[in-house]
Amino acid sequence: MPSEAILARRTDHMGASAIREILKVVSRPGMISLAGGIPAPESFPMDMIREITECTIEKYGSNAFQYDLTEGFPPLREALADYLTGKGLTTTAGEVLVSSGSQGVLDGIGKILINPGDQVALEAPTYLGALQAFAPYAPRYLEITTDDQGLLPDALDRILSRHAVKFIYLVPNFQNPTGCTLPADRRQAIAEIIQRHDALLIEDDPYGDLRYRGTPVRSIKALAPKHVVYISTLSKVFAPGLRLGFCLAPEPVHHWLVLAKQGVDLHTSTFNQALAAEYLSGGHLKRHLPRIINLYGPRQKALLDAMANCFPGEFTWTKPEGGMFVWVRGPQGMDMERVNQQAVARHTAFVPGTFFYARAGRGRETLRLNYTMADETSLARAAAILGDVLGSALAATGARHSVG
Ligand SMILES: Cc1ncc(COP(=O)(O)O)c(C=O)c1O
Repeated sequence: MPSEAILARRTDHMGASAIREILKVVSRPGMISLAGGIPAPESFPMDMIREITECTIEKYGSNAFQYDLTEGFPPLREALADYLTGKGLTTTAGEVLVSSGSQGVLDGIGKILINPGDQVALEAPTYLGALQAFAPYAPRYLEITTDDQGLLPDALDRILSRHAVKFIYLVPNFQNPTGCTLPADRRQAIAEIIQRHDALLIEDDPYGDLRYRGTPVRSIKALAPKHVVYISTLSKVFAPGLRLGFCLAPEPVHHWLVLAKQGVDLHTSTFNQALAAEYLSGGHLKRHLPRIINLYGPRQKALLDAMANCFPGEFTWTKPEGGMFVWVRGPQGMDMERVNQQAVARHTAFVPGTFFYARAGRGRETLRLNYTMADETSLARAAAILGDVLGSALAATGARHSVG
């Protein structure tokens, strides 16, 4: 059967992820991969999972295995409302919508908001999974200018003044891929701007709890609740395979997200939601989060220290206070896809930054490093190899080369 005859036109926009191809290569034995973006398996609270699995079956019995409400399992919605209120997002269970991963909300957002050609404003670079979720609905992207602290509020104001923007998509905490966190004064300015323009902002916050230094910054949702869809997940603080995300959306977005979800999966796994309800309400997350932070914090430090020693002086990089990523920028003319092949030949891998841009060909001189999946010794070794490979690639472009 010819595929053109059966496939919908929207599949034209659903290309295979180039990152998946890179990740296939880097899962070879002996490779130190700074390429993935996934939590360390040793960060999963396996002891607690054993304990709460029994409690969950005891407490909810067959209800934990029955169909349930699309909006979410009521005890989990209660527990999430308390958790979010504790983060300064005062809310009620009725406002919380549970999803199959935060990716499920991103897909729903695309489905209910984007008509072909609609304009979506976002940071460049941005989360690749959001680009993939929105792509089938054929938006046009407007890139908002950023600096090393993230989005520039004035640039957003200009875009909203000149263009009809369907929504803005932002990852304000420890952004994927850059690791940047938007400072409080910019969030305040953004909240004021979106309210003045009556614009909708999607605030995607999977990493906010993974803070190793400094103090948390208030979410934009707390500053402009009627103009923000706040999305988060238990993937980074419990276990990603459970596929548990959630959001707080103003009406009518909440209403339509529920209807869209009904058509996708009726609801997220009841049993997994029941487990998560126990994890949150039984105080397990509070006890476990410091363990995750104590695992990742030293890994991040080991990578940053080794980079400072081994990377050529022509490269700059972010020094995030949390999250899972460091973003590196080299001189113009560098081609990090080619550098990655050279690094892979030496059993070390990263993701070239160009994949995180909506516009093809941008960010060729950038790369993303993940530090959650390797131990400190491997990270230091990887940084030394990368420093070497970057130095050689730089010399090949004819630019100066100085270590440190
Ligand atoms: C910015 C961002 N949003 C959303 C997700 C999706 O997370 P999940 O679907 O596991 O909740 C990720 C995962 O890496 C992410 O980095």
